[in-house]
Amino acid sequence: MQQTSSFIRSFVRREGRFTKAQREALQQHWPHYGIDPEQQQLNFETLFIKKQAVVLDIGFGNGESLLTLAEQHPELNFLGVEVYRPGIGNLLRNAYDSKLENIRVINTDVVELLQNNIAASSFSAVLIWFADPWPKRRHHKRRLIQVPFLKLLAEKLVPEGELNIATDWQPYAKHIHETVKLSGLYTDIPASTFIQQRPQTKFERRGGRLGHNISEQIYILKTS
Ligand SMILES: C[S@@+](CC[C@H](N)C(=O)[O-])C[C@H]1O[C@@H](n2cnc3c(N)ncnc32)[C@H](O)[C@@H]1O
Repeated sequence: MQQTSSFIRSFVRREGRFTKAQREALQQHWPHYGIDPEQQQLNFETLFIKKQAVVLDIGFGNGESLLTLAEQHPELNFLGVEVYRPGIGNLLRNAYDSKLENIRVINTDVVELLQNNIAASSFSAVLIWFADPWPKRRHHKRRLIQVPFLKLLAEKLVPEGELNIATDWQPYAKHIHETVKLSGLYTDIPASTFIQQRPQTKFERRGGRLGHNISEQIYILKTS
């Protein structure tokens, strides 16, 4: 099993199937929306046009909900991180068509991004919506939400920054609740202070079709 330092990969690397439009959008619009950070630390003041709070969307999939969020919240900048390139192509096509300037995208493992390219206290909020639940017991170690990952995120959130999680897999919801509590780093709050209405995601609709209940868990970073 492949690892990023002490972190086990939360995804299986696969190129996925591109539509022609997704591939073309990736080629045409990556230079504008995409970031290839290599080893350097990101400077949000030069990456985004407006200086405003930055929200990290981890694993945005086909980008549908990220696009809606960016349209609904011009007062926020959104950094999306995703390993699935057809999904990135889809987002870039729609972001370009909607002339959105408050989105930037990175195509890498979020663990590598946080470890190598993000300064402390960078994000006002982090969204983890419908992360792969890895339901089989032998795969639980692949789940993204683990104590070391929550510690890494805590370093990158501003004081009282928000951690906003949704899942349609109730055993994962329980794991998330217990793991966040175990980390001792976050306090739960009743509702997001950033996002009044969470846009439905593709995986949320899929969960709905399968009869799954949706669980939302919102936390803020403890200050001491
Ligand atoms: C189940 S999908 C959910 C997608 C989207 N949030 C939604 O609700 O429709 C999880 C996504 O997270 C991405 N992902 C998983 N682990 C990741 C990681 N370590 N870094 C970046 N993306 C990751 C996967 O490629 C996949 O697209």
